[in-house]
Formats: sequence, C-alpha cells, structure tokens
Amino acid sequence: MLIGIFDSGMGGLSVLYEAKKRLPNESFIYFGDSKNAPYGIKTKEEVIERCIEICDYLMTRHVDAIVVACNTATSAAIKVLRDKYPIPIIGMEPALKPAVESNKGKAIAVMATPMTLKEEKFNDLLNKVASSTSVYKVPAPKIVELIEEEMLESEEILPVLEAYFRDIKDNIESVVLGCTHYLFIKDFIYDLLGQDIELIDGNLGTVNQLKKKLLENNYKSEENRFVEIINSAGKSKVDLSKKLLKVLEEKYGDN
Ligand code: DGL
Repeated sequence: MLIGIFDSGMGGLSVLYEAKKRLPNESFIYFGDSKNAPYGIKTKEEVIERCIEICDYLMTRHVDAIVVACNTATSAAIKVLRDKYPIPIIGMEPALKPAVESNKGKAIAVMATPMTLKEEKFNDLLNKVASSTSVYKVPAPKIVELIEEEMLESEEILPVLEAYFRDIKDNIESVVLGCTHYLFIKDFIYDLLGQDIELIDGNLGTVNQLKKKLLENNYKSEENRFVEIINSAGKSKVDLSKKLLKVLEEKYGDN
C-alpha cells in the first residue's frame, strides 16, 4: 500500500517515523507544507484550502490512504476531507483520554496550537472525557516556528517553554503533546518540568488506527518499499526533514 502523510511542515515526520516503524513493508509519501506553516494561527478556511490542495496532489499519486499528521489540520478539515475523498483518511487529536485515564489528581496541561484548542472538536473532547479533571490549555505557536526554522537549541526553546509553563508548572502532572511538532522538544520539556512529568502524544494511537483501516480494506504489502519526502518550500526543507527523521531514528531506534 502507498500511504500519504501530511502536515504543515516538520511535525508530521514524528508520525511518519512511527508509521515506518510499525508498517515496515508499506510505502509512504510525506508532504510537508512548510511554505504555508504555521497552520495554527491561520483561519479555519485557509487551513481547509491547504488540506484540499495537498490531498488533491496525493490523490494524483494514487495513495491508498491519507494520514493527516497534524492536530490543527484535523480539527479544521477532517470532515471535509472524509466527505471529499473515497479512501481512508486518518486524523489526529490531542491524546487527552489516556492522560485522564492515568491521572492521579493533579492537573493536565494540553499543549497545542491556538486553532486546535479553540476548535469545537477539542472542546467536545474536553467536555466528554475530562469534565471532572482539571485541564490547562497551553497554546504554543512559537514552538512550531522555531522547529520550522531549525532553531532547536536549548537557549532558543527553553525561554519560550518557560514562559508558557511559568504559572502552572507546580500544578501539573502530565502534558499532552497536542501538536506533532512538539515531539521534537520532549527533552526540553523534561528539562523544564522534571523527569517525573508524564508526556503523552497521539502518534502511536494514530498509527494503530491506520493499521486497523488498512486491515479493514484488505491491504497488500508493497513489493518495493519507498519513502518519499516532499516539501512545498523546496529542497532545503526536504533536507531538514530527512535530518529530523534521522534524529528520531537515532534516538528511538528505527525498528
Ligand atoms: N503540527 C501541527 C499540529 O499537529 C501544527 C503546526 C502548525 O501550527 O502549523 O497541530
């Protein structure tokens, strides 16, 4: 099977990493839209338009399924995309449910883009699964910009994180990483909040959902697997994507 994965830029590479690892015989086309990143501060209509353009392109490449590896794009566009394309479309949402299930009494922080936190999809989830748990919304758009610009040193990231968590850091026991870009800064979050903080992301859940959909659709593995990375901002961002994917593979293993 050929699977299309897209994000506003680098973030979805953390989903590609997980998908490559869990589906070792499938092929992937990853589309990063860095030219138009960040999505989290755009209007919903603008994000829907970007998603349609990218999915139209992926359809011309005959993908068998599409993963929207972006919480923001999912909250803005998943319904439109599912109505429009005749293949499985897998989305993402902040992993609030597992955070509530493992909650021991202190509050949960959900880091995500302003759009994800504002949209109905997340607020419905919040009302559904966390009505009796204390949840802080932490909009963190600046982090996306820094990652897109490859500014991944502690002196760039830590002051920004510090400002986001200043008022709440003593009250929380876990942080939901509700944006795929944030997977790249896990170590900085541990540095700031301590090793005991629980960091929860939705990447594995999304890949499991993809596997389930593929099985339902009787998928057959590819003979000659390939992984292609495309970026709307051109070669320098493709190179950065390859570098970041490698960072994940070296850090967490590639099988
Ligand atoms: N990676 C995206 C997400 O998961 C959003 C980043 C952006 O603002 O473009 O929400």
